[in-house]
Amino acid sequence: MRLTDPGTGLSSQVSPAVRLKTRLGGLLARSRWRFWRHVDLLIERISGLRSLDTERRAMLDDLGVAAPGRLNYQPSRYISLRRGLRGAHVTSDDVFLDYGCGKGRVLAQAARGYPFGRVLGVEISAELAEVARANLVRARSGARVADDDVVVADAASWPLPDDVTYVYMYRPFTGKVFETVIGRIIESLERRPRRLTLIYVYPELEEVILRTGRFTRARTFRSAERSVHHRVSVFVSEPARP
Ligand SMILES: C[S@@+](CC[C@H](N)C(=O)[O-])C[C@H]1O[C@@H](n2cnc3c(N)ncnc32)[C@H](O)[C@@H]1O
Repeated sequence: MRLTDPGTGLSSQVSPAVRLKTRLGGLLARSRWRFWRHVDLLIERISGLRSLDTERRAMLDDLGVAAPGRLNYQPSRYISLRRGLRGAHVTSDDVFLDYGCGKGRVLAQAARGYPFGRVLGVEISAELAEVARANLVRARSGARVADDDVVVADAASWPLPDDVTYVYMYRPFTGKVFETVIGRIIESLERRPRRLTLIYVYPELEEVILRTGRFTRARTFRSAERSVHHRVSVFVSEPARP
């Protein structure tokens, strides 16, 4: 096989071993994707979330809201929240927030499967937020969704409501935006000290969270996707003892 470098125009010969490895890698990635898609379909069926349309990816460029630090829409695997909340004692006093809720897959899952008192999403794209609202209504079997349940805002300039006790993040943003959002969480904990659980899927920036000194990593497990950061980390912040 001859590969051409688009920059230099130079071409190079690829050995059969590399070719085989590339092909096998691609095959494995596709089978893994198919496997997890089937797991998701099964979970949707079991949990009564079959009517949702959340699978297709969306680019922020196409939605007109791209900016440095903002990451594109791609849905979570259901297994991430399921395992992230394993052993948690969720009650109606708890409030769940998905930062960058996209089309609302995780919001719907949280609303349908757990006794949260409230489920909130913040999303930079009005178009995706609209889909999230519709999906949340479906997950609640037609029950009304309040206007401020799915907020269209830049998470970096949106103050975290002080009753939120569970935060979920699946690669919504990176860089300065991520740091600012973590700062907003700390501000909220200072305004109203409380226990807060942060489920971070693909935790490439977990150092930023740990550096605040306000969170401990309670556990980490492998996520569905295979990559360098193919993990989900669960952090907990406890209020300081008097
Ligand atoms: C990888 S998707 C995750 C979607 C959803 N949370 C899930 O797990 O299925 C990341 C989402 O974050 C949103 N996003 C990116 N930057 C944002 C920002 N600054 N404020 C709010 N949402 C943002 C994107 O539009 C996208 O929908």
